[in-house]
Amino acid sequence: MSQIFVDACFGKETTHTPVWMMRQAGRYLPEYMRVRAEAGDFLSLCHDPEKACEVTLQPIDILGVDAAILFSDILVVPMEMGMELKFVKGEGPLFPKPIKTMEDLDALCVEEAAQKLEYVYETIRQIRGKLAADKALIGFCGAPWTLATYMIEGEGTKTYAIVKKLIYSQPEFMHKLLRKVTEVLKLYMSKQIESGADAVMIFDSWAAALEEDAYFEFSWNYMKEIASYLKAKYPHIPIIMFPKGISGYLDRIDGDFDVFGVDWSTPLELAKEKLGDKYVLQGNMEPTRLYSQEAIKVGVEKIVKIMDNKRHIFNLGHGILPDVPVENAKYFIKQVQAQTKR
Ligand code: CP3
Repeated sequence: MSQIFVDACFGKETTHTPVWMMRQAGRYLPEYMRVRAEAGDFLSLCHDPEKACEVTLQPIDILGVDAAILFSDILVVPMEMGMELKFVKGEGPLFPKPIKTMEDLDALCVEEAAQKLEYVYETIRQIRGKLAADKALIGFCGAPWTLATYMIEGEGTKTYAIVKKLIYSQPEFMHKLLRKVTEVLKLYMSKQIESGADAVMIFDSWAAALEEDAYFEFSWNYMKEIASYLKAKYPHIPIIMFPKGISGYLDRIDGDFDVFGVDWSTPLELAKEKLGDKYVLQGNMEPTRLYSQEAIKVGVEKIVKIMDNKRHIFNLGHGILPDVPVENAKYFIKQVQAQTKR
């Protein structure tokens, strides 16, 4: 059975524009909060294939989205490369011992990390076993640059001072780290696909931290390398690239992938003009429009007008926020499915 999400990724005509939401399995859903409480905490939930499968499927049942996204986190990769990871309540992720020296870097493992992520592959097998055949399962990873930033800074950062000091003073150290992470991600994404992921997405959440040339040298080239590697091995699996906040660099975007994720701060008209012929676009409704049903309706209309139901996958321009009413999330999905019906 064909999946309208996968068809749309390849630019084929579909009965409506497929829709899903970044962070669709998350804290705005009471059902998610219940399963997370049963698991104990967020990382235990990521480690439990049965429960991770359950929360992955919740937005399919509750909202009727066209694709499920694997429930996990981009940071389980550096964790399994050997770094202790904590999620601090109210503050987000923390690596208490960030990478500082060449010894720290050399201690990170590659093949072993891809093997230790077995619980993710098991989650994917369980989801694919339960998910309706016409719904796609999206696997994912973080971009090497975004992961390496967390590994160097130890946590989210406003200035990126530590990691940027490194790229301008010891670029070869940074490249060595990016190389290692890239090699793990090639293995990790291959195994996600072989376990049943129907499409894969690479999240570069910290793309906007870099000036143009540095962006292509330290981030995009590595993302592109992963995409080419996967495309050669699995040509039937769509690849989605999501570099957040780089609307100024769109002229230099190229590579072997299928879908370009547009964040909410990039005008969709601009992305369409620069990339719409080469890539299917995904996005890009302002996530905070979800606080108001009128704002949702108008936001969907605006996007439908620009994309004209062609070469488009509906999504938010970043993750759904935890205090959005579930009714409004449902309303968003219904609006898209009604307004884009052919
Ligand atoms: O539903 C989905 O989108 C799939 C699951 C998913 C999560 N994280 C679950 C999660 C995905 C695809 C991610 C990716 C991720 N994780 C990114 C890239 C996308 C982006 O948001 O830019 C990043 C940067 C991370 C790192 C991360 N994980 C942060 C900064 C946080 C804390 C932020 C917050 O909202 O508290 C997390 C935790 C996290 N990952 C949660 C979820 C559902 C919240 C955990 C909880 O308290 O239950």
